[in-house]
Amino acid sequence: MQEQLAAILATATAAAPAIATRPEYESFKARIVGPNGSLTAAMKGMAGVPKEERPAAGRLLNETKGALESLFAATLGRIEAAEIAARLGAPVDPTLPSPDDFAGSLHPLTQVREEVSGVFRKLGFTIAEGPEIESEWVCFDALNTPGNHPARDMQDTLYMPPGTRCVDAPRRGVEAYVLRSHTSTVQIRTMLRQEPPVRIVAPGRCFRRDTVDATHSANFHQIEGLWVDRDVTLRDLKGVLDFFVREMFGSGAEIRFRPSFFPFTEPSFEMDVRSSGLGRLSGRWLEIMGCGLVDPRVFENVGYDASRWTGLAFGMGLERIAMLLYGIDDIRHFYANDLRFLRQFA
Ligand code: PHE
Repeated sequence: MQEQLAAILATATAAAPAIATRPEYESFKARIVGPNGSLTAAMKGMAGVPKEERPAAGRLLNETKGALESLFAATLGRIEAAEIAARLGAPVDPTLPSPDDFAGSLHPLTQVREEVSGVFRKLGFTIAEGPEIESEWVCFDALNTPGNHPARDMQDTLYMPPGTRCVDAPRRGVEAYVLRSHTSTVQIRTMLRQEPPVRIVAPGRCFRRDTVDATHSANFHQIEGLWVDRDVTLRDLKGVLDFFVREMFGSGAEIRFRPSFFPFTEPSFEMDVRSSGLGRLSGRWLEIMGCGLVDPRVFENVGYDASRWTGLAFGMGLERIAMLLYGIDDIRHFYANDLRFLRQFA
């Protein structure tokens, strides 16, 4: 009996690895535990075992049965795993190159932001940042924009619900918060934090109550510039911006200043650029930013001595720059996350 059981287990163990399909598995199992199986026969043989040997033989039989059951389970498990792998296709080799060879790339607005920042970095500007939720005082009052200015209208600016708190927001007077409508807020925050000289550019997201169309978006990006020192003049403003456009739009790019108005600069200008390298826009004057010399009232608001310091400031829309550079005709492309668009900037 002992030898018979050992032989059954040995045969089964030797045969199991070759079992590859369910039908093979079924007949393998039947050969052992089926009506005519080897183990079934051994169990029937128990009747002929002398009474005193029966307990030991019974124990051995149970052990063999247990071992065979685990062998069956392991074999079936292996077949099932193979079936799943076959359904999934070839085994996954993570070291193979991806069939989609697009590695991902920076968003065009990020690229333009980095490029613009890089140009100003060459001129000694450092990067400053500020929050998107801003106190009304920083966004308007400190920038010499009075309470009755149209920019402060609910129709133009996105106000936060009453009760909104903003970490670290300088507040004066009534506490109200807005989604910043321009990055000029970072001028104020920087000047409140440090004494002159200041030479920063501040890229960031801005928000306005604009109806979305090909050239307007309620959320967009700007980059702001501020340079405060002794005797910063209009010549410096022109020099800095002339360098900027030649770096960005080609060495032949020219600039033009048109008188304008901003509450926080005096005098104020709109600046246009003209370049031969702009495709169908070549040769046309294109407005790209607002700029001017810092209004002394702004210096007073941040505690700078307006008789000692002068400054220049400018602010431009990053979408606008990107649209001109790349010939993009609809601002909505930037936010659609359409890979057909984005891949063109990889
Ligand atoms: N903040 C102005 C705007 O959003 C741009 C600007 C910045 C103008 C700095 C002058 C100086 O339109």
